[in-house]
Amino acid sequence: MVGPKRAAAQSWTVTLPSTPYILAFGGTVRPNSSTELAMRHVLNAVERRGARVKLISGQSLQLPLYQPENSERSDDARALVAELALADGIVIGSPGYHGSISGLVKNALDYAEDLRSDARPYFSGRAVGCIATAGGWPAAVNTLNALRDIVHALRGWPTPMGAAINSSESVFDKSGSCVAPRVAQILDLMAEEILSFPAARSREPES
Ligand SMILES: Cc1cc2nc3c(=O)[nH]c(=O)nc-3n(C[C@H](O)[C@H](O)[C@H](O)COP(=O)(O)O)c2cc1C
Repeated sequence: MVGPKRAAAQSWTVTLPSTPYILAFGGTVRPNSSTELAMRHVLNAVERRGARVKLISGQSLQLPLYQPENSERSDDARALVAELALADGIVIGSPGYHGSISGLVKNALDYAEDLRSDARPYFSGRAVGCIATAGGWPAAVNTLNALRDIVHALRGWPTPMGAAINSSESVFDKSGSCVAPRVAQILDLMAEEILSFPAARSREPES
């Protein structure tokens, strides 16, 4: 087999903790990153529903290029992997760079490989909301699809509601609030789906 050894397939029983912990990561290092604002919208929505939240973005995501053969990890890389292991639900946001996800976000995602032998390998058992922003629709949609493919590869469960956001339209105001009702609705639905996913999986099958 070529490449790092993959964890064996396992099945999961997931129950919703009373205070679920939702981690968002991604965005760009640009001040007022629209990708980061979209992730913040989802985190605010899950927080209102009782979740604990954390956002890892911007400078904290400027990690050394992931090298599986090198076990040295920066503090930020170690923190990202530790928070991913703890998370009950995940949000990932990427800008569309040249038609697909940015190198910054892909490199952060590569660090999920450090969870291959975790009790819950990679993103197993977790709903993952995917958000893509781009200056045009083709890159926004393509980037969303790329994120969802990666989440599948990492054994996560992309929420039915994914967000492809055209950042060349008026989406966020100066205070960072979402002023596009349709985008806000999609991000709110994503928040609901992230929180309802573990509960749905723990429901007993009807006889
Ligand atoms: C290096 C680079 C490449 C980009 N490539 C594309 C692209 O291929 N298609 C597109 O629609 N927008 C492209 N954009 C625009 C960004 O996707 C868009 O501005 C995005 O919303 C930036 O995210 P942010 O607001 O979180 O910084 C590119 C921007 C940069 C800096």
